[in-house]
Formats: sequence, C-alpha cells, structure tokens
Amino acid sequence: MRLLPVATEGELAREAADLVAQALRRRPDAALVCATGRTPLGAYAELARRRLDPGRARVFQLDGYLGVADDDPRSLYGWLDRALLAPLGIAPGQVVRLREDTPEPEAECARYEAAAAQAGGWDLAVLGLGPNGHLGFNEPPSPPDAPTRVVTLSPESLRSNRAYFPPAYPVPERAMTAGMRLILGARRILLLVSGERKRAILRRVLDGPPTPWLPASYLATHRDAWIIADRAALGPE
Ligand code: F6R
Repeated sequence: MRLLPVATEGELAREAADLVAQALRRRPDAALVCATGRTPLGAYAELARRRLDPGRARVFQLDGYLGVADDDPRSLYGWLDRALLAPLGIAPGQVVRLREDTPEPEAECARYEAAAAQAGGWDLAVLGLGPNGHLGFNEPPSPPDAPTRVVTLSPESLRSNRAYFPPAYPVPERAMTAGMRLILGARRILLLVSGERKRAILRRVLDGPPTPWLPASYLATHRDAWIIADRAALGPE
C-alpha cells in the first residue's frame, strides 16, 4: 500500500484522474469499478474536463440501495450516470450495473459476480472511504473474501448518507455491494480520501493491522493499492 499525500482536493482530483487515464491508455478495454459518494466527484469532473476518451472501458457500479428506481434521487446508478457515465460518454452497454430495483437481489449479485469474472477481474477500483472504514458498502465486520451481496447499512453509514438526499426521501437501510473479494482482487486500487472529517478513520486505516472491523485496512495486504489523501484528511505532519 502506498500513500500519496496531496495538498488540496483539486490536486487529489488531478492525481486520481491521471491514474484513471493511465489505466485506459494501457488498456482501452480496462474494467473499472467506480464509487459514487462525494470524494471522487472532482476526479470524474477532471476526466470530463480533459475529454478523456473512455475507449472500450467497462465500468462496474460499485454499490446501490435496494428497492430504488432509476429515476429516484437516491439511485446510485443515477449518481454514477450524472457524475461519470454521461459526462464521459460511456454507453449503457459498457456498464455493469447492480440494478437497485431488482425483485431478485441475490440473483442480481450472482449475475454481477459472473460479469466481473467474465471481464477477467478489475484493472482499477476507484473508491472512497466510509466514515466507519467501509469500502463500497462492505460494512464492518467484512472479511477479505466477502462476496457481492445484500447488506444492511450501519448507523454510521445511514447518518452520513442522510446528507446526500432531500429530506423527504428516507435513506434506504439495505443495499447491494461489490464484495471485498472482488475489490481486493482489482489489479490496482485507488482509495481517495479528502477532508478533516475523514482524519480519524484514515489514521486507523494507515496504522493497521488489517481487520474485518475496518474493511479499508485490508488495502495494506494488496500489492498495488494507493491511498491518495489531502492535507485536511491527513492532518498536521
Ligand atoms: C459509494 C460508496 C461509499 C463511499 C463512502 C465515502 O459508492 O461505495 O463507500 O465511497 O461512503 O463517501 P463520500 O465520498 O461521500 O465521503
């Protein structure tokens, strides 16, 4: 695991965009898994600003709430579409979704796992750090071999997700997430961390040791995981 400290959120966005662009130069049909949430938005906007050609990239949705339609403001597919797919011109056929309104979530997770296997695993995972150390919606405790599955969100995640949606929309309590096994199987992982509110949890991730109670701590066991963190998240030297 390597730590790439950067000064600002803007620098974080540029460094992350450089690494995504590099992955696509190396392999135009790279398989990427991309988080929603606020942290990667700058990197996605930077890729759009550069008019990055997404080539034949395949993009996997990292997670999604259960029982939410595509036109619902809580849809994480909708979020990904607005932030990344539409601005970069990534066609629906290039995207592997976790359909949030599926009547059969277990079958949806199995289909997703099969699509990831069919793609030969992921070349790059672009992730954010949850307030409790979750990756995707792999809530503590999540072992490193956890499969793609239906999960119940923790109180911390429900609290932080509350800020994303209009007050009239309750935060869904159940979700589907790419499993730790798939995430840790990605050939390269970028964990983007920004802002003072992530400082304490980032410190725990950096201090280790790996434990299911802090899923992001397993990045220490990965051979090409990068944590790109800004000064506000890292705190005083
Ligand atoms: C979102 C996701 C979550 C977020 C994490 C950080 O698809 O999987 O793990 O990446 O909760 O969220 P932000 O970036 O909003 O602080």
